Amino acid sequence: MATRMSMCQLNINEETVGVLFLINILFKKYMILVNKEKGTQQQDKLRSEKEPPLDKGVIPWLGHALEFGRDAAKFLNRMKVKHGDIFTVRVAGRYVTVLLDPSSYDAVIEDSVSLDFTRYAQVLMDRIFSLQLPHHNPAVEKALTKQHFEGGSLSCLSSTMHCHLQSLLLQAQRPCHNQTDWNTDGLFSFCYSLLFRAGYLTLFGGEQNNNRTDPTDVYEEYRKFDNLLTKMARTTLKPEEKRTAQSVRGRLWELLAPAGLGEGSGSSPWLRDYRHLLQEEGADEETQRRALLLQLWATQGNVGPAAFWLLGFLLTNPEAMRAVRREFSSISEQDSAKCPLLDRLQHTPVFDSALEETLRLSAAPFITREVVQEKTLQMANGQEYQLRRGDRVCLFPFISPQMDPEIHQEPQRFKYERFLNKDGSVKKDFFKGGRRLKYYTMPWGAGTNGCVGKRFAINSIRQFVYLVLSHLELERCDSEAQMPEVNSSRYGFGMLQPEGDLAIRYKPRHSH
Ligand code: HEM
Repeated sequence: MATRMSMCQLNINEETVGVLFLINILFKKYMILVNKEKGTQQQDKLRSEKEPPLDKGVIPWLGHALEFGRDAAKFLNRMKVKHGDIFTVRVAGRYVTVLLDPSSYDAVIEDSVSLDFTRYAQVLMDRIFSLQLPHHNPAVEKALTKQHFEGGSLSCLSSTMHCHLQSLLLQAQRPCHNQTDWNTDGLFSFCYSLLFRAGYLTLFGGEQNNNRTDPTDVYEEYRKFDNLLTKMARTTLKPEEKRTAQSVRGRLWELLAPAGLGEGSGSSPWLRDYRHLLQEEGADEETQRRALLLQLWATQGNVGPAAFWLLGFLLTNPEAMRAVRREFSSISEQDSAKCPLLDRLQHTPVFDSALEETLRLSAAPFITREVVQEKTLQMANGQEYQLRRGDRVCLFPFISPQMDPEIHQEPQRFKYERFLNKDGSVKKDFFKGGRRLKYYTMPWGAGTNGCVGKRFAINSIRQFVYLVLSHLELERCDSEAQMPEVNSSRYGFGMLQPEGDLAIRYKPRHSH
């Protein structure tokens, strides 16, 4: 009994020491934040009444950083209810003015003098890709990319993409020895893996070409990298995750090293020109590889997830699936001698509306600018606000226009025909507060910094869905299963990704 008592006391003492130790660490961390906070207090005192309402949060210096990182959509909706369409929040020592009125977005998007796109982009480039491009000219790079992703060059890229998608889909069917056996997979993995590998082969070259890097290796490493991406951007990696991130990044740099090096690399003309531009700018080999990973992310990171949401919504909405199938069937039946398939696939109003609706529900980028000189922001309702130099401005179109119930009725529901008029033409008239909106959905950003790859991305997703629906019988493993929840830590980083996956099964369709 006496021994048990003393052991018990010992346990209490050990626990007490542990708790005190923890309190000590937390107190030290808190004091670090309080000291950092002192640096910003002077700024707070100077804030004028003409500035948007400021919400600092309760944690010194960090402000709202934790809530913002956990679920930005939920947090910003809460702030919108509290403050309205414009407010400033403190996030890890920075002041971020959030604007949620789509009628006023042009005041931000069209001002490239007071508001700068590249500075914050460079911060992220450094955090995520460990990349600094010292003599880099973003305007020259953008002009180069644009030139390769439009007109005749776009047609060539889209037709190469089509070939790769077709052959990868054929390979995906091979595991079933018997043509009547089903393959099982998660829909997200299925879409991401196929589109990533086809996109990689089209733009970067790879095993089927001369640089001998296996696209599956690149995909598998990239997925590990992608899973850590939001934490890298927020600098919240745990020590173990930091080590993983560094090694995965290093492995990807190695895998990408041969891409874009001359005609023999099998890479697209775009990548060869891009690599040439980097060389002209004086970037060394190491920097070039890091820049290639950035381009891999920009070109491959959103297309697969977008295709997942679209196919998922079609599988869980039979009426929408029937309408898209009907449209695709009528395209297949047309005479290929008169018009090649890829040209016929350019006129698909039903599919286009279903895709637009998918992106409305699942594209959630932040559009962020840094205030480089003081600016008076004029809202559409006539109100004016001062924006302070050094602060950031952030638009979050996901909340408004995309999920705004005043603009889109029942915004949580997938309605494939939302962007179609009764006569089948494209619907472009959407209103808020009686005003017709220029921006009623904004998955591609807008203005000079809008997405350069939009047409290529749309073509790729359309070809993929067309090929999957015409070559495969595809269904949910559980016919009652619904779409998985959103991974809420990804708000702000382009296309959303699911928490978990939707189990599917597929086999070759017999009519082919
Ligand atoms: C579903 C697929 C995609 C989505 C939803 C998407 C979305 C976006 C968005 C929202 C931006 C603007 C970011 C901002 O304003 O801060 C952007 C920029 C960009 N996108 Fe995409 N994108 C997709 C696919 C692609 C593809 C396939 C390419 C390949 C060329 C691409 C290339 C780019 C580039 C180069 C920029 C930067 C433009 C600049 O520097 O101003 N994107 N994208």
